[in-house]
Amino acid sequence: MNRTRQSEKWSSRLGVILAVAGSAVGLGNFLRFPGLAAQYGSGAFMIAYFISLLIIGFPICWAEWTLGRYAGQQGYHSSPGIFNILIRSRYGKFLGVLGVIIPVIIYMYYVYIEAWCAGYSWYFAWGELNLGDDPASYSDFWKSFIGFGTDGMLLEGGQGKVIWFLLAVFAVNFLIIYRGLAKGIEMFCKFAMPALIVLALVILVRVLTLGTPDPAQPDRSLINGLGSMWNPGDVRTQLANPQLWLAAAGQIFFSLSVGFGVIITYSSYLRDSDDVVLSGLTASSANEFCEVALGGMITVPAAYVFLGAAGIAGQGTFGLGFNVLPVVFAKMPMPALFGFMFFFLLFLAAVTSSLSMLQPGIAFLEEGLGLNRRQSVTLLGLLTAIGCLFVVYFSKDIKALDTIDFWVGTVFIFILATVTIIIFGWVVGIEKGWAEAHKGAEIRIPRFFKFIMKYLSPVYLLAIFGLFVWYNVIGYDGETKTFNPTSYVTDLVGKEPNTVARMSVGLVILVTLFFLILISLAGKRWDAERAGSQAAVDSDSMKP
Ligand code: ALA
Repeated sequence: MNRTRQSEKWSSRLGVILAVAGSAVGLGNFLRFPGLAAQYGSGAFMIAYFISLLIIGFPICWAEWTLGRYAGQQGYHSSPGIFNILIRSRYGKFLGVLGVIIPVIIYMYYVYIEAWCAGYSWYFAWGELNLGDDPASYSDFWKSFIGFGTDGMLLEGGQGKVIWFLLAVFAVNFLIIYRGLAKGIEMFCKFAMPALIVLALVILVRVLTLGTPDPAQPDRSLINGLGSMWNPGDVRTQLANPQLWLAAAGQIFFSLSVGFGVIITYSSYLRDSDDVVLSGLTASSANEFCEVALGGMITVPAAYVFLGAAGIAGQGTFGLGFNVLPVVFAKMPMPALFGFMFFFLLFLAAVTSSLSMLQPGIAFLEEGLGLNRRQSVTLLGLLTAIGCLFVVYFSKDIKALDTIDFWVGTVFIFILATVTIIIFGWVVGIEKGWAEAHKGAEIRIPRFFKFIMKYLSPVYLLAIFGLFVWYNVIGYDGETKTFNPTSYVTDLVGKEPNTVARMSVGLVILVTLFFLILISLAGKRWDAERAGSQAAVDSDSMKP
């Protein structure tokens, strides 16, 4: 145990479960999931989704909870510190950089979307988002609100109202973080999680009682709406589509906040005897309830009932949330109330997630550089503000947001999740890891998960990653025998590269380098601390 630092701790078991569930439940549950399920033919998508939950979702989640709690007892809470003690190589800590930069960089654009949600709930509450029932009006509103048309538009006055929401949301996040783990994050999640579930249940009841609002369009019924979300469709053909598997696995990570570097940090504030197996399962199950039972039953069925299949097709995550749903609310009785409730629920869900993206950075700055809370919050605030300004400035076609989301929010998460499960099953060793997981455990993990965690999860991840590289990065087309990488790749290295995409990747590289330098400084500090602890132990043992 590191003797030089006093760790913060969660104040209650419910608190930590709500905080982890809060990190998991976010925009991914209510926007990303329904959008993907509708896009990939829901029944087939759900099969791949549940297989991924079983093979990589629960196992990596348990691995993160276990490794985090273990390292927390040694006084480490950030991935570089945690990997430093888990991997017996002086390079281990550098691998941990992923567990800091992923949440920090995702925060830079996530908070921007959080500000859209705050803005929408505000405008709905004041009746200013009642633009009739033409989706184009809402699309125009959204585009001008977020600066979709031109770079720099938001900072040049005029349209840039989202900036005020962004400032407010940024301040809320950092105020809560500044208050610390128990008095800040835990307290906020204890209020926000039940509140958002109540809001979602009220909206769900409203959606499930919509019936067939337009008798002239009998096919636009609730039952058909639910069918559009849940009917199996042509499962066999769809399951043969590798992109569907990629999307399902990616959604599991994004949604559960697995591979983010977040759960490992949160669980490092547990006590030695605290259960991780049941707590991890409870937090993940709460997320699945919010995603499948709430997110999956609200967004797409409601849109279908009012707009039919054509209204949903090809909308994508943001289109569905910010262009289609406002039309749906406009067509419902009491549009201001339901519009406000939905976007406020999104806002609460987003805040509980973005808070969790800040804690790993704070933990690292404090334990790696010895900064106090005020200093770490200020430094992280400055860094994320610069990144966020970059994303906001390059708002045209949300190019910066989209590019960073692809590379960090998809690719890096896959890599970190793979590293984590390999550390658990192979570096620590499955037997040791399994025994550690069951310390203080209130239930036992079924034994077959040993096999899954050691062999199946890494193989599944590597296979998915291989598919990803093959189809997205190399982009080989068997029929035409040509290479067609996605625009994410051609934007960077194609014949006509995109400057904003290149700068966005440049930003990611700069942030990574910055943290690598800090990790190398932190390494010296940790070595010195360990030498100090060892000396203290030696002198203790010398006592008569
Ligand atoms: N897990 C968070 C979400 O789903 C990041 O939005």
